Amino acid sequence: MAQTKRKILITSALPYANGPIHLGHLVEYIQTDIWNRFQKMRGHDCTYVCADDAHGTPIMLRAQNEGIEPEELIARVAREHQADFADFAIAFDNYHSTHSPENRELATLIYQRLRDGGHIATRTITQAYDPEKAMFLPDRFIKGTCPKCGAEDQYGDSCEACGATYSPTELKNAVSAISGATPIEKESEHHFFKLGDFEGMLQYWIKGDHLQPEIAHKLKEWFDAGLQDWDISRDAPYFGFEIPDAPGKFFYVWLDAPIGYMASFKNLCNKTDGYDFNAYWSKESKAELYHFIGKDIAYFHTLFWPAMLTGSGFRTPNAVYCHGFLTVNGSKMSKSRGTFIMARTYLDHLNPEYLRYYFAAKLGSGIDDIDLNLEDFQARVNADLVGKVVNIASRCAGFIDKRFNGQLAGDLAEPDLQREFTAAGTAIAQHYERREYGHAMRTIMALADKANVYIDEQKPWVVAKEEGKGQQLHDICTMGINLFHVLMTYLKPVLPVTAKKAEEFLNIKPMSWSNYEVPLTGHHINKFTPLMTRVESDKIEAMREASKQHLEKTDTTPAKPATKAPSNIEPVAETIQYDDFARIDLRIARIVKAQHVEGADKLLQLTLDIGGETRNVFAGIKSAYKPEELEGRLTVMVANLAPRKMKFGMSEGMVLAAGPGGKELFILNPDEGAEPGMRVK
Ligand code: 2FM
Ligand code: ZN
Repeated sequence: MAQTKRKILITSALPYANGPIHLGHLVEYIQTDIWNRFQKMRGHDCTYVCADDAHGTPIMLRAQNEGIEPEELIARVAREHQADFADFAIAFDNYHSTHSPENRELATLIYQRLRDGGHIATRTITQAYDPEKAMFLPDRFIKGTCPKCGAEDQYGDSCEACGATYSPTELKNAVSAISGATPIEKESEHHFFKLGDFEGMLQYWIKGDHLQPEIAHKLKEWFDAGLQDWDISRDAPYFGFEIPDAPGKFFYVWLDAPIGYMASFKNLCNKTDGYDFNAYWSKESKAELYHFIGKDIAYFHTLFWPAMLTGSGFRTPNAVYCHGFLTVNGSKMSKSRGTFIMARTYLDHLNPEYLRYYFAAKLGSGIDDIDLNLEDFQARVNADLVGKVVNIASRCAGFIDKRFNGQLAGDLAEPDLQREFTAAGTAIAQHYERREYGHAMRTIMALADKANVYIDEQKPWVVAKEEGKGQQLHDICTMGINLFHVLMTYLKPVLPVTAKKAEEFLNIKPMSWSNYEVPLTGHHINKFTPLMTRVESDKIEAMREASKQHLEKTDTTPAKPATKAPSNIEPVAETIQYDDFARIDLRIARIVKAQHVEGADKLLQLTLDIGGETRNVFAGIKSAYKPEELEGRLTVMVANLAPRKMKFGMSEGMVLAAGPGGKELFILNPDEGAEPGMRVK
């Protein structure tokens, strides 16, 4: 059926240029890549662009820590990211950087248009400032004691222990995570984007079927909470673009990040004939534009971004497609469990198409989190891809090669079966189009089961031994190869590398949605070589082990900017397994000495005896005890906690106390049976 050729531009979120790609990132790139490949196979003019998100404080500080210029860091990370993506068969039509001339030009243009339209306000604000480092501190670079629960070492915007959110000024014993200095407050003039100017436009836009229902619902909550002005400027020192009319002030990384989508496309236009920037980005554009993102950055993409585009005279996206987070074995990815797996570590051990298939089988159009259960991963890939799909070809190919010289029969013996397979292409295409990849995979595997039933029933291995049944054998195997051909076409968006090998084996042109209905008859095929091998348990184990080894020193650079707070949708709570708990060495400790810590509101410095060994620990229990009340008492401590450098010195463990806080924080009373050093069970 002839269909109109669509002009489509798609993007995935731009990864930060300060760290490697991990499996959590790959959910999105694989999801988008499948859609891109599918659209291309349908004959549409689909373009997939991305870039590194290269600006911001974390990148500036990381470069400083490494003793290099940010440009050198982002160039190195760009190479690493692109190698990872290429090896996962993520086929961008262009990959660029937000630190590029195209992005500077577009960010400047958009800012100037917003300013000229009256959508930029300036006002002076007070912020935390690191007097040693001479820089303003983003919330995530301030650490201290949670004002709500007293947990130490919490970020300036939220507490990981109790989930409270607060402003950095509420944090107790606040210190700069960069220098350890106590932050002071300092004023500075900032530039704000007046998001509220676009409320009408946004209210109208969300009615237009551009968002998934869960996200549209979230937006209504954000509207109810009121659209706040958005601070789009940062003071020097900052790695980014200087604001044209404000020397010493820079665009906040999130201002120029989405503009990076346009910049990457512009870069493609500059180097490729036939691409016209305006045909995709002007208000009159007839092209379709889709952004694939994680649900945690919906706020930026569904409020700021459409508003910025509208305010600067550009078109808005047709849709923003959010996906959920990745958990591994049911929990948040964890370095200590070996489930925080980098793309490169995975690639060192396993075939990337296993993961592409597994994610596809789990992905739908919603924003639910998806779980990579490593046992299920192994079982499903082995059963579906190796046991079902590849098996069809390997059961038939040998006979075609040896008995028929690689030549397929002139006709299909079971045209109805073939028709059933080809007819499914319409529904499968619909599933892909709607990003219901799980449905598509289930439909394809149901067909693969049918193909195997056909071969089981026809028993070519028996027929092959019978006199005068050459034609029958030829027919069965030709049929099997044809069914395999149709299935591989359907799987090609997910398994492009295996599909390419299948094209070589089948001796055919690239498979697409326009040619799978043509049967392969009277056609010569090549010798079959195994297209995919089984997932081995030892490879998975080796990957987990290697991931544990990669335990990087805890990075103080935040993964996400603080202002995404309102977009937090269902953060994943981490459940720990018994094994994790068993790794904690809990000991009875005698408090030998307890003393005040100068300048600390909550902390006491404790000298603990854990049976022949003395530890220095800072504990946030000053509100409940005077030092003299503690000396001689027993407590439970975590004895194998890595020493932590705190503002006041090194803390070599953690004291466990329970209670609501304030005066009610209970530690053990002296007890006849307990001895320092005893393990707590
Ligand atoms: O959250 C992130 O990882 C950001 N680097 C995503 C940016 S997407 C777009 F806006 F550029
Ligand atoms: Zn807390």
